[in-house]
Amino acid sequence: MGSICEAVAELILRQQPCVALTGAGISAESGIPTFRSKGGLWEKFDPTVYASIDVFRQDPSKYWSIRGEFIRNYDAYQPNSGHRALAELERMGLLRHVITQNIDGLHRKAGSQNVTEIHGSLREILCTGCGREYQAPHIPEGMPPRCACGGVLKPNTVLFGESLPPHALETAWRESGASGVMLVIGTSAMVQPAASLPFIAREHGAAVVEVNIEKAFSNADYFLEGRAGTVLPELVSEVRKKS
Ligand code: APR
Repeated sequence: MGSICEAVAELILRQQPCVALTGAGISAESGIPTFRSKGGLWEKFDPTVYASIDVFRQDPSKYWSIRGEFIRNYDAYQPNSGHRALAELERMGLLRHVITQNIDGLHRKAGSQNVTEIHGSLREILCTGCGREYQAPHIPEGMPPRCACGGVLKPNTVLFGESLPPHALETAWRESGASGVMLVIGTSAMVQPAASLPFIAREHGAAVVEVNIEKAFSNADYFLEGRAGTVLPELVSEVRKKS
């Protein structure tokens, strides 16, 4: 992989700005299950039942049964070397933005500043009754947890059937269209509108680099095969050598 890694390092230095689009794969090495790769969450739980807004309105305990543990242990989950490599690239002034589909907050924990969480985050939990905001892990007991006003709490994440936060989507489109290089990391590229972002980048002349344990994105210009926690630190050290 050395030569491809070197070529991508050159590209990052030569074709700025660079942005990253990340998916569950970058958090796999932090012990957070992905959705569709083996052992993924959707193998065990049907997302149309456990992660749909229509079902949440009828029976919020379904969603809470798959997300409550993460929220109550929020501080225990730590970024891995893949997240830290992207934060380092940003500190070097060579990664302008991270667009993430992940709701685990690990890019921010790793120190990345310019992060757009297009599917929201489990960090903020809102009362569906009075709108009061709670911060993970500080939520009342109970299943589903309820606000002091009696309203059911809902994490500030995008469930199937909900639209994405407009500001986040606008930023993701803008950053993708303005990029010279897009790193597409740990995503099966199956869920819209995130899956369209690499195409928007390409349409505007960007080079697309996939980092994944198996090829998921059809027409990347470069494919860096391997785990994000291994590949990204190698890539950043190549960039450092050449800069
Ligand atoms: N390093 C790099 N890639 C990895 C690793 C790893 N250690 N482990 C798994 N992968 C790859 C898998 O090969 C797969 O392509 O990460 C990808 C994970 O795909 P999904 O589980 O589908 O996750 P994601 O693409 O983020 O899903 C998108 O779907 O259900 C919705 O809202 C949910 O944000 C999620 C969206």
